[in-house]
Amino acid sequence: MPSYLSDVWFNVTDLNVVSGSGSWITTADGSEYLDFTAGIAVVSTGHCHPKVVAAIQEQAARFIHAQVNCYHHDKLEPLAAQLAAITPVGIDKFFYGNSGAEITEGAVKLAKQVTKRPNVIVFSGSFHGRTHLAMAMTTSKTSYRAGHNPLPAGVFVAPYPDPLAPDSEAEIDRALSGLRHLLKTMTAPDETAAMILEPVLGEGGYIAAPSRFLHGVVDTCREHGILFIADEVQTGFGRTGRMFAVDHYGIVPDIICMAKGIASGFPFAALGTRAELSDRWPKGSHGGTYGGNPIGCAAALATIEVITEPGFLDNVNARAEQLMAGLGEIAGHDAGIAQVRGLGLMVATQFLDPARVASVQQHCLREGHVLLMNAGTYGNVVRWMPPLVVTEAEVAQAIAAFGAAVKATA
Ligand SMILES: Cc1ncc(COP(=O)(O)O)c(C=O)c1O
Repeated sequence: MPSYLSDVWFNVTDLNVVSGSGSWITTADGSEYLDFTAGIAVVSTGHCHPKVVAAIQEQAARFIHAQVNCYHHDKLEPLAAQLAAITPVGIDKFFYGNSGAEITEGAVKLAKQVTKRPNVIVFSGSFHGRTHLAMAMTTSKTSYRAGHNPLPAGVFVAPYPDPLAPDSEAEIDRALSGLRHLLKTMTAPDETAAMILEPVLGEGGYIAAPSRFLHGVVDTCREHGILFIADEVQTGFGRTGRMFAVDHYGIVPDIICMAKGIASGFPFAALGTRAELSDRWPKGSHGGTYGGNPIGCAAALATIEVITEPGFLDNVNARAEQLMAGLGEIAGHDAGIAQVRGLGLMVATQFLDPARVASVQQHCLREGHVLLMNAGTYGNVVRWMPPLVVTEAEVAQAIAAFGAAVKATA
């Protein structure tokens, strides 16, 4: 039968899935797989969490689309209040969108409006989305940008510390002096609206920003009146073991970008900022047909209810510890694994040989029924991003599958 689907999507597997529950997906032939991709770090509460399903069903029967410019609906304010409660203190105004790229672009639009400056600084290895400005801000792989040039101008790239550098302190100094050099040579502070950074590089290879580096970036922003945008699209909503990754660092960004885990898989995204900045965003200068969709708001409210339940983040941290320990043990017996690193349930196993990553992934899928994805500029990282409700037994099963795959491909 001919396929009428575009071939532009790359495919991690050829699984034909019909349902999902918790950490598991089921294919058309009835086989079950442990989904350690969580739909690329999206299904925070697992596939089809009963509370999220009920909230979506209830809302769908009342109102599917209530366009924000035309009228307000009764979930807009309650969700903003919940977001204000869980985001860092001082973030108290929220704009809603549908995807990560839309929100990172919106964040830069806000920064340009507020500062009246044209440029933005990103960090090498970044991923901020696939629309034109977001592509211009994405430096993790040429394949995201190739064939799309010219991309919007005014985007400058500063170094990000290499986690494998032999001297990590010297590496932080190198990255921060590269940033200062950029401000002297290519984009003057009074031309720079914002710096946008993922506190844990996602597509770039699951690399948590060293604390001194992140504080250095934020201090440089403050010194020059440049806004600091935290792209928490992948790291937010408990993924790193705290509600947001910036919470680990004690940093309050000027703008925070949220998507993925926010609504357990229903397409929804949000931008948070301080009222003082939001008030300077000219009315009507930004918007969108679907932002603030009532079903999305309902899914986000239910998701927040689940992830703020007592003990939820304790599970994330306990499973992260279990995963790091298990993977560390395996890496200790295989010189081909260069590093195991992570923050919460964003864990990376970096291999010396990218070809090995593909073989390990295939083996885990075929023999262990565990679905994993890669990451990193060179595709040399197996990344671990299970649903946050993953159990001890499921993590043990995934570690065993990985151990067998590593042995089989040595
Ligand atoms: C950190 C980060 N920002 C932005 C995006 C883009 O999000 P979306 O694919 O929803 O546009 C992603 C997606 O992977 C991401 O990881």
